[in-house]
Amino acid sequence: MPPPDLHSEPDTWTRKDLIAIEPLSRAEIDLIHTLATQFKQTLGRSQKKLPTLRGKTIINLFIEPSTRTRIAFEIAAKRLSADITLVEQKASSLVKGESLRDTAQVIQALNADMIILRHSAAGAAAYLARILEIPVINAGDGAHEHPTQALLDTFTMREKLGSLEGRKVTILGDILFSRVARSNIWALRKLGAHVTLAGPATLVPGHFREFGVEITHDLKTALADADVVMLLRIQHERQSATHFPGLGEYKAMYGLNAERARWLKPEALIMHPGPINRGVEIDSHLADGGQSVILEQVTNGIVTRMAILYLCMNAAKTKPSPLPA
Ligand code: CP
Repeated sequence: MPPPDLHSEPDTWTRKDLIAIEPLSRAEIDLIHTLATQFKQTLGRSQKKLPTLRGKTIINLFIEPSTRTRIAFEIAAKRLSADITLVEQKASSLVKGESLRDTAQVIQALNADMIILRHSAAGAAAYLARILEIPVINAGDGAHEHPTQALLDTFTMREKLGSLEGRKVTILGDILFSRVARSNIWALRKLGAHVTLAGPATLVPGHFREFGVEITHDLKTALADADVVMLLRIQHERQSATHFPGLGEYKAMYGLNAERARWLKPEALIMHPGPINRGVEIDSHLADGGQSVILEQVTNGIVTRMAILYLCMNAAKTKPSPLPA
């Protein structure tokens, strides 16, 4: 990927908010990735902090649990010299009955410059983006989208594989309830990859073919020619009914173990957005093995989110100062 000239203002990014991958153009995804590549080069410096968002205040509004996304956004904001404050449901007036709308408007009235929202309801981030003047970044809304996860996942694939044009990516597991799967399907299709969805029929319904993907319930077929296999955990928190007999049966039918990993090409990447349920969707030695890039995904979550904070803040009212050489 050619590095961008960070001393010129990005001219292809006009979005105040990042709510979903679906409306993004290929050029916008490329811009995020090239900017993330530039930010990654700064991580090797002894002084990692850039003054780009100095004076800006960002609120991490997390109404669902998170480790990777919350911390990566916090580190990304701090690397750009922004101030960032965590607001969680249990320690906020949401538990006293205050609405999400009122909570968000209070945050804006407190002079925050951006809200990063994780919420269990699909559409929550889009709603706040409509009613607030400040940028809203979706850190995962129900089973709808998790755009920053897909951006870091495809960034990691492009780092490892180069162009994704014509590459084969298998997403295996609980597709039905996965916002990660939805965002990745959009991103991968825009970047020219072929996507195969695999798993039990109850969790990989046929209507997903409308996204331009293939579907198989046969694991060997799903793994045999994949350049990447992305494993997903079973999203108990979003399932209201039983979609298969139990985790033991899921592991027996679809868990990635040593025997099944032999169906993969030796150079195929094993990915997982986390959190992992070791011994269910993936055996430990594969999660920690040579084909796994799971922890590299986590690390890349910092620079892709730095790019998103930079671009959305830049598209909002006040332009940040340019990056130092
Ligand atoms: N992948 C992901 O969103 O992980 P967290 O729930 O830990 O943020």
